Amino acid sequence: MLRPSPNSPAPSVDLMHLTRHAEALAVLADPRYVPPPVRQDAPEGTLAWLRAHVSRFSSGAEHAARRRSVVERLAALDPVRLRADARRATLERAGDWRGVPTRVLGAALGVADTAPVAAAAAGYLSGEESPQRDAAVAALLDRADLPAVTLLLQAHDATETLIANALPRLAGHDDVEAVLRETLRHDPPVKVLRRLDLRDEEEVTLDVVAANRDPDVFPDPGRFDPARGDGPHLTFGAGLRPCPAPAYALALAAGVLEGLRAGERP
Ligand code: HEM
Repeated sequence: MLRPSPNSPAPSVDLMHLTRHAEALAVLADPRYVPPPVRQDAPEGTLAWLRAHVSRFSSGAEHAARRRSVVERLAALDPVRLRADARRATLERAGDWRGVPTRVLGAALGVADTAPVAAAAAGYLSGEESPQRDAAVAALLDRADLPAVTLLLQAHDATETLIANALPRLAGHDDVEAVLRETLRHDPPVKVLRRLDLRDEEEVTLDVVAANRDPDVFPDPGRFDPARGDGPHLTFGAGLRPCPAPAYALALAAGVLEGLRAGERP
């Protein structure tokens, strides 16, 4: 499916940039595609060391064990409570919501001080290292174990981006959750997923924005329509290693939006 036929024109540089929903889904479900490996030789406690020790960038049995430990940790959290806490914290801070989802998630995980999360998260997906990011990771590892740090770093940017993307869409809609679900499809916080094809070491990028607007799956895909319901968008990944936390992300985001709405009422 993904390979060019012998008669295809010369490969273009973005040959393995997949934009169709069905193709992306097939790659995500296929164990021959793994996350591109990250460097394994970094000094302990640095950003690169962290990336070498989390489920997101590992594969096989290592991935399964690491994923289990974050999923177990998540199972102890209650989305209803996260939502209420995010709402309250947003109101208490008079609408200054940045940092609220991470503080609320941190408190639930027993991490009282989440100040270093933003700096560490800035390099978590890209792997771009800096002394400031290394220091933030070291500070986090001082105060929390690996599953908790993983969850905070996975959650931070994506959840804040979801909220920022949904905010301008809220006007005229009562159902905050419906707006969030359609925002996830229409404006995914994580726009590209990467995999390495183990057969030929070729990197494949999955274009989540394009897949979420595939007309074979989503009628009138460019239209923002909260009435669509929860369709099969790929914003939380799919297949072998989907995001384990959609309910938690939605709870945190909905709580913040509800807090903002409650703060606006006279
Ligand atoms: C709108 C918010 C979020 C989005 C869009 C999002 C998206 C994703 C995606 C696409 C993946 C899979 C990446 C891949 O296949 O390569 C992923 C993995 C993950 N996410 Fe989320 N996520 C969000 C919020 C969260 C939150 C709030 C948490 C934790 C509370 C979380 C925890 C994780 C973890 C631990 C993984 C790694 C799973 C694994 O390695 O098997 N995410 N996320």
